Amino acid sequence: MPADADRDAAAVRAAELRARILAADHAYYVLDRPVLADVEYDRLVRELAEIEAAHPELATSDSPTQRVSGAPSERFERVVHREPMLSLGNIQTDEELDEFDARVRRLLGLGEEVRVGYVAEPKLDGLAVELVYERGRFVQGSTRGDGVNGEDVTANLRTVGRTGANRGVPERLLGEVPPRVEVRGEVLLFKEHFEAMNRQILRAGGEPFANPRNAAAGSLRQLDWRVTSRRPLSFIAYEALVPGAEPGGARAAPGAWRTHTEKIEALGRFGFETNPANARCAGIAEVKAYRDRMAQGRFALPYDTDGVVVKVDDLDWRRRLGAASKFPRWAVAFKYPPQEEATRIRRIWASVGRTGILTPVVDFEPVRLSGAMVSRATLHNEDEMRRKDVLEGDWVLVRRAGEVIPEVVMPLKERRTGEERPFEFPAVCPVCGAKVVREEGEKVYRCTGAACPAQLVGRLTHFSQRRAMDVEGLGDKLAAGLVERGLVRDFADLYAVPFRAFQELFSRPRKEERDAKAELPEKSAQNMLDALERSKDTTLRRLLFALGIPQVGEATAATLARHFGDLARFMDATEDELLAVRDVGPETAREIRAWTAEPQNRRVVERLLAAGVRPAPEAIEARGPFAGKTVVLTGGLAAMSRDDAKAEVERRGGKVSGSVSRKTDLVVAGEDAGSKLEKAQSLGVKVVGEEEFLRMLEE
Ligand code: IVH
Repeated sequence: MPADADRDAAAVRAAELRARILAADHAYYVLDRPVLADVEYDRLVRELAEIEAAHPELATSDSPTQRVSGAPSERFERVVHREPMLSLGNIQTDEELDEFDARVRRLLGLGEEVRVGYVAEPKLDGLAVELVYERGRFVQGSTRGDGVNGEDVTANLRTVGRTGANRGVPERLLGEVPPRVEVRGEVLLFKEHFEAMNRQILRAGGEPFANPRNAAAGSLRQLDWRVTSRRPLSFIAYEALVPGAEPGGARAAPGAWRTHTEKIEALGRFGFETNPANARCAGIAEVKAYRDRMAQGRFALPYDTDGVVVKVDDLDWRRRLGAASKFPRWAVAFKYPPQEEATRIRRIWASVGRTGILTPVVDFEPVRLSGAMVSRATLHNEDEMRRKDVLEGDWVLVRRAGEVIPEVVMPLKERRTGEERPFEFPAVCPVCGAKVVREEGEKVYRCTGAACPAQLVGRLTHFSQRRAMDVEGLGDKLAAGLVERGLVRDFADLYAVPFRAFQELFSRPRKEERDAKAELPEKSAQNMLDALERSKDTTLRRLLFALGIPQVGEATAATLARHFGDLARFMDATEDELLAVRDVGPETAREIRAWTAEPQNRRVVERLLAAGVRPAPEAIEARGPFAGKTVVLTGGLAAMSRDDAKAEVERRGGKVSGSVSRKTDLVVAGEDAGSKLEKAQSLGVKVVGEEEFLRMLEE
């Protein structure tokens, strides 16, 4: 390409890159809603820096490569930092670490034999702030902003730590403190708190945050400090400046620290939380070892970190090294190689799991991630898919969470062409064709077909488990074998598997393993038939639980069994009749009815009965303080509602009655109990208070 054309193309590209970087900065720093992933952003900045290096005439003083990103927002008062809050140079390789070390010793005029002492710290991924303390009192706090001008968020910072996430921002410092100290550190959200907070936001119908950094920034940069005070923010201190205190001064004078290590120790004494993962390293080789340890170890830390900050420990050396326009010369940030890659989604489809839940799965062009080729990830559920706004055909960033499980980080919306399509869940199961439902309040779509092969293995083992039909010996492997060979399509088929088929199934693994201790296939087959025969003699509650009806766990199955008495009445119960059952809410009633109305399911139940399954009516709990007792509840209970108390008693085999008579065994008297209590006393019926009642429930 002729030089002019080359230059023109570079100029166009540089302008384009600057515009995109500025837009991304605005979204990230001002709106707290990123539009680019970090790797993408870094790539753009690097490309721009390369163009500017090749064409110095294109470099502008306001280029994003020349200044600290993050203009302060107009929403807040400005604070001019006494000392600018600088950014850190990013490096990624051993060579760059060696170069950093070599430059430090060159600038300090140190010989080969002198090892520079460093402190290595996890790079915290939150929001850098400065806290000013005068005579030990917190007087002003600000964000970094553009490095020179920050935003005044004093009121918000005062609330950091109120939720007890960590010590937060102390109002007053402890011990002997310099007249003024400027403490710098990171406001961040620990992973655990981030997840809890997002769950809460989702429950309240809000928009969750994309990552802990944005959540921390969004929480701190609130106009109303009351909002901030409810967010579980933490603060970790990593720097302190004392105006006028020269490093290397008398050790006793507060603020005259000789090393970073001493400074951090002092911050701890002042009452700040410092990072226990920081480590002193004697020389760059130890820094590399720390970095290698952290490459794995960081995933176990309570917060996200994607790198290591390396700082010269000696503060006098630091002063002599000074800073360039944007970065100090005494520190650098080593970033772990990006764990994310961009790829394109080929298709999204619904995978049917064992419980009938349909999970959206994305197939994408294979990419190498953390040492393995990956081409598939799940999106968990529809809400997650919509929240991430992932479309079929999208370019997406993928990573392996904890370096293991592939996941889609975010779509690269900039690369959309208009051809991308949202994925819609199928109305019928892609495997068996039964209706697919997503009930209100549920996060997932479910296949309602009891005979769906995709669900069958899981359903069979659920059906056979001890607490359900108790078919001894029918586990995962055997169930899979039965389904694989087409011997079993639903629960009822289990009772029709011929002896010879079991015999064959049991002889297969034996041949391969040559396990001398294994029983003879004939014996195993007979044992299985016997177990199946025994399981026919069961109870209604066990059968209802075994059927795997959505929302019907063991407890609900027991309630339903007691309420309806026999299977036919249950199968024909309308939604309204189901609603009349204690503990059954509208959702559960709807789900149960959807299940009992499905012709496939009705057929399976009929065939179970035809095979000889005999569910006995429910036996009432025969032991415990409430078994067979008539109980009257009166007055208010602090721990539970009247309905709940009634349910608890009934669950324990008791009967709850509305009025006190000679037949009453027990009266539970809560707050403000009235005439019923008097009557009980006059009849000599046993009366207990709430505390005693709760204790009896525990028995
Ligand atoms: S020291 C100039 N220590 O990194 C010295 N910074 O890119 C910079 N950061 O704005 C401050 N962890 O938000 C320091 N242990 C750590 C850090 C850390 C994260 C952030 C901080 C700063 C940015 C610089």
